[in-house]
Amino acid sequence: ITTQVAIMGAGPAGLMLSHLLAKAGIESTVLEIRSHQEISETVRAGILEHGSVNMLVDSGVSDRVLRDGDRHDGIELRFNGESHRIDFQDLVGESVWLYPQTDVFLDLAARRKADGGDVRYSVTDTTIHDIEAKPKVWFTDADGVEYELQADFIAGADGSRSHCRFQIPEAQRKWYFHEYPFAWFGILAEAPRSSDELIYANSENGFALISQRTETVQRMYFQCDPNEDVNNWNEDRIWDAFRSRVNGNGFEVKEGPVIDKTVLKFRSFVHAPMRHGNLFLAGDAAHTVPPTGAKGLNLALNDVRVLFEGFDSFYSTGSTVLLDAYSDRALDRVWKAQQFSYWMTSMLHTPADADDFARARQLGELHSVVSSRHGRAYLAEAYTGWPGAR
Ligand code: DHB
Repeated sequence: ITTQVAIMGAGPAGLMLSHLLAKAGIESTVLEIRSHQEISETVRAGILEHGSVNMLVDSGVSDRVLRDGDRHDGIELRFNGESHRIDFQDLVGESVWLYPQTDVFLDLAARRKADGGDVRYSVTDTTIHDIEAKPKVWFTDADGVEYELQADFIAGADGSRSHCRFQIPEAQRKWYFHEYPFAWFGILAEAPRSSDELIYANSENGFALISQRTETVQRMYFQCDPNEDVNNWNEDRIWDAFRSRVNGNGFEVKEGPVIDKTVLKFRSFVHAPMRHGNLFLAGDAAHTVPPTGAKGLNLALNDVRVLFEGFDSFYSTGSTVLLDAYSDRALDRVWKAQQFSYWMTSMLHTPADADDFARARQLGELHSVVSSRHGRAYLAEAYTGWPGAR
């Protein structure tokens, strides 16, 4: 079979790219090793920048985010037992939406299906060939039938454990890494909302994040050791961890049965450039950020917006200028998000070996941010999403 763009990965990046290409009359085939069900049952992050929301709505994927999502006009930073509101609307005139990535996936998958898109889940044995000339992908579909897919280009949107990334010769790319001495313990709990807005809490016992999902199910995280085993944590111990990090001065986290628990390891990673020959990497395949600040999905959507502009320009004019500029244009925002995610992470988490100086300096940093309109505005601009790609 032949197509114009072979897309590896049917997560939000791959499906959004396929959707944008279809609207411009450009063919694509999307290959995904997981099943539709497996992707839709994985708990992922929940915050969309206004630009990501506009992309879903304006490109015609779905306006469900505006009906079922919740607009958030600010967050709270909590430290020393006190909350400080970062008012996004007042500071930068923007908002974010709480709308789980799972729903973004479901909306995109439904739209591609309704539009007759070629999306193949549960494929196996995918191998990529000739990315420097006329690319091909070999794969076996869910029924066990083997195919050779020929394409002009391959988009590698196959997530943080990307295979596509490894097709790029070592001498032709650079990997940037940063490891952190902590992870997140994430739970879903059956409880009412503890607060109208998200609370990012720093305490001497470590970080905690109070997020939300629905009226009756909440998403929360607390800082833990990267090697923590979820089986060592019963409900009492979990709620103790939250109480010791967020409760106080009249605030109490609302508790309830814990229905899901996972440890999220995190790191910062960038693969540059994001292109080799006719292979273009997008989303987690090219970069990962620690979760603090919820930039991962938003970055992936920005990558495919920029990559789409490159393909669209190539197929309508024959010019490769925008495709050649893809990596630099995408990396501009990637590094801003790397900085923001690193900064939020280091400002809010407490390393186990933090000495008195480290702790007092951290409180100085937090005070300098919340007490300054400029400090709050930097946070608000980054959190809600910087203006569009250059
Ligand atoms: C969520 C995750 C994040 O990493 C974050 O910064 C905010 C919210 C969430 O899953 O709800």
